[in-house]
Amino acid sequence: MSRFYITTPIYYVNDAPHIGHAYPTVIADAVSRWHRLLGDDVLFVTGTDEYGLKNQQAAEAQGLHPKELADRNSTRFRAAWDLLDIVYDDFIRTTEERHTRSVQKFLQAIYDNGDIELGTYEGLYCVACEAYYTEGDLDDGLCPIHHRPVELVKQENWFFRLSRYEQRLLDHYAAHPDAVIPATRRNEVLGFIRQGLQDISISRSSFDWGVPLPWDPTHVTWVWFDALPNYITAAGYGDDPERFAHWWPADYHLVGKDIIRFHAVYWPAMLLAAGLEPPRSVAAHGWLLVGGEKISKSGAKFTQITPADLVAEYGVDATRYHLLREVPLGGDGEFSYEGLEARYNADLANNFGNLVSRVTTVVGTKCDGIGPAPSADSSLKDVAADVVRATTDAWGRLAPSDALEATWQLIRQTNAYLEAHEPWKAEPGAEVDAVLGDALEALRIVCILASPALPRSTAEAWRRLGLEGTPAGQRLPAAVEWGNSSGGRPIEKGEPLFPRRKG
Ligand code: ME8
Ligand code: MG
Repeated sequence: MSRFYITTPIYYVNDAPHIGHAYPTVIADAVSRWHRLLGDDVLFVTGTDEYGLKNQQAAEAQGLHPKELADRNSTRFRAAWDLLDIVYDDFIRTTEERHTRSVQKFLQAIYDNGDIELGTYEGLYCVACEAYYTEGDLDDGLCPIHHRPVELVKQENWFFRLSRYEQRLLDHYAAHPDAVIPATRRNEVLGFIRQGLQDISISRSSFDWGVPLPWDPTHVTWVWFDALPNYITAAGYGDDPERFAHWWPADYHLVGKDIIRFHAVYWPAMLLAAGLEPPRSVAAHGWLLVGGEKISKSGAKFTQITPADLVAEYGVDATRYHLLREVPLGGDGEFSYEGLEARYNADLANNFGNLVSRVTTVVGTKCDGIGPAPSADSSLKDVAADVVRATTDAWGRLAPSDALEATWQLIRQTNAYLEAHEPWKAEPGAEVDAVLGDALEALRIVCILASPALPRSTAEAWRRLGLEGTPAGQRLPAAVEWGNSSGGRPIEKGEPLFPRRKG
């Protein structure tokens, strides 16, 4: 058994969750579920990022204390994840005491190693990014991410000596070619490091909504320097050395391409400075767009589709499926209701749902409702073995869209197998039993393979097939071997799992 530690970004609490936040959260959840099927010891962490100027300003605008706004919106993130059947192991809030302790210990370690020093800084600051930019970074004088004006800020601050880490970061990435994926992002990161790294200001004395520096409590920690360490806090840093040794380094930090620099340059340098290992991999995903525009809290209202809207309209599984399947991880992708409906009808109603209905119905009419056993030499057996391999490979390289595409091959082939044999037209007997036994076995395997994406409908199909336990409770690879299950179980017909939607 191996251990598997995956994280999402922790989300700012300046506003409510939208589907752009649901996107990485659903992916990390599905990948965690896949690893639980493998029998791995899994730690899946998400949470909220609650300090910093941006959150403070949002609270002021609403006449609230920043902690009140954080409480309110952190709860909304949790509620959204509950609606989406997200099974995290830990939900971390940066305002928790365990986190303050961990950040202070971590910063103290960097300070003691001589990599944090006092200096004066004058720079261009974007509050929406909570980051400084150089003139060269700007887009027509505006923040390159938010296209908003930046502010000239001059402060005496504590600086992290990032410039000392250029070579060590380059060495790290040379030794670990998969430490940033996809390769286009890795190249971007390497290009940024090779340009030369500047020291970064990591404290603020102009406001106090943050973690006080342990050696200078008149300064609070820059929000990114307290946010990134959430990943070690959740792994037990500062609290439980044994637990930390077990979980660290993380296998994947799943992040949007907008925050790759923080995760693939600053964070590994901070860890090295504290004498800790960098994460094994930072995986960057692209943006969900609506009408070509990034869905965002600061963006236009029409881009603010909430997870609850989608779940109410299409159900949990269809929402998850769409987020996992539509856009291959790494690129940007357009979100549209038309796209969701088309995929819903094609993949869920006409393929998976239809297969379940057909098989359970025909077993009812031709086999008295008792499922026949699969045959040892079915053509579907080889299809299933190929599909298991391709699905496993794809989840293993963090490619949910490919994984589902692979799994759906088995659904399509099973539907085709049924159409070729038309058991609904044949007389009951050995031949019909063999065909339906094979289809049931393929469907059993599909339920397991698709369970990370469709936890509810695969569990319901599993129950209708008369199987014990749940698909999520199965263990690979034994459970997906052909013939792992025998016949003789009562099969139940039911309502369509995914009623077809009329366009
Ligand atoms: O950046 N498409 O928090 P944040 C895809 N607190 N993903 C999107 C998206 C979109 N339209 N909009 C947001 C922060 N995301 C920091 C992170 S981590 C130590 C601190 C996702 O609330 C994407 O993963 O702005 C992005 O990286 C994350 O939400 C940022 O959420
Ligand atoms: Mg953002």
